Amino acid sequence: MSSQDIPEENLPAEQGAAHGAVGVADEEHPFADPGLPPHEHRIQDVDERAAKRSERTVALMFTVSMLATIGFIASFVAIDVDTSVYIWPLGHISALNFALGVTLGIALFTIGAGAVHWARTLMSDVEVADERHAIEASPEVREKVFADFKQGAKESAIGRRKLIRTTMFGALTLVPLSGVVLLRDLGPLPEEKLRHTLWSKGKLLVNMNTNEPLRPSDVAVGSLTFAKPEGLEEHDHGFQNEIAKAALMIVRIQPENIKDKRELEWSHEGIVAYSKICTHVGCPISLYEQQTHHVLCPCHQSTFDLSDGARVIFGPAGHALPQLRIGVNDEGYLEALGDFEEPVGPAFWERG
Ligand code: FES
Repeated sequence: MSSQDIPEENLPAEQGAAHGAVGVADEEHPFADPGLPPHEHRIQDVDERAAKRSERTVALMFTVSMLATIGFIASFVAIDVDTSVYIWPLGHISALNFALGVTLGIALFTIGAGAVHWARTLMSDVEVADERHAIEASPEVREKVFADFKQGAKESAIGRRKLIRTTMFGALTLVPLSGVVLLRDLGPLPEEKLRHTLWSKGKLLVNMNTNEPLRPSDVAVGSLTFAKPEGLEEHDHGFQNEIAKAALMIVRIQPENIKDKRELEWSHEGIVAYSKICTHVGCPISLYEQQTHHVLCPCHQSTFDLSDGARVIFGPAGHALPQLRIGVNDEGYLEALGDFEEPVGPAFWERG
């Protein structure tokens, strides 16, 4: 479409003003025209109906954003925190978290999309030459820099002090090697190493506070006990991380209150053992609400229901806490019947 077809008020005022002849700079136009193709006007600049359509599209996006925000508030008020929903391929997740995430996502996305559409179709489409002076320094400035540099070198006596010069170049050459050496930590991949903890069949559960092996009678209803595998002390060299990774929370729940069938099978007389490491970003969980059997991670408030497979009922954690299968040995002590069957902590890279 040529400029003659366009209503005058839609033509950009500065159009063409900054351009001299292609590739030629002169006094009036000190910056040479780079020879860009002629400006193409948008349909909205020349057709009022198209502009109205764009206006309605932008308004629609902002309206959707408003509705999504209302949906966000309604979800927050109406959906029970305990309600879960099956979403493929995520599995069972909190319906409240899902609804809040979706509505907030739509509200923010449509504000952004509406603003972008508005800018692309209706805001000013004027092409403006951004005039920039040459960045090369003038000959006088360059001469001055060279002179200063020579003067500095002379005053430092680097030419005469050969020992300093040699050792300085040696130091400057070696320093970057420290960074290269650190690259070694990028590999090899941990592979199976992160998947396993110190638990194995027959390992006794030891109370972390008393260092005594636990009997079922030591675990009272309503109490929260922390345990570690037998045979290791906190100060054992090289094992601190391993002990932290294997840390357990032990609670006793009335068997009839345990909702998850597998959890019941893996428990002993209602005593259940779960990893103490939060599946969000790995903080140790420490708060237990005995009436509801909920445990709370103090870092970002993820809450897990220990009477229902330790599934997440609130907060950012993405997975239930891993359960350790336990039993009792011939001497009446609580023992592990194997390792965890899934990675503890966030470990998102290891999950299938
Ligand atoms: S680490 Fe537990 S909620 Fe973030």
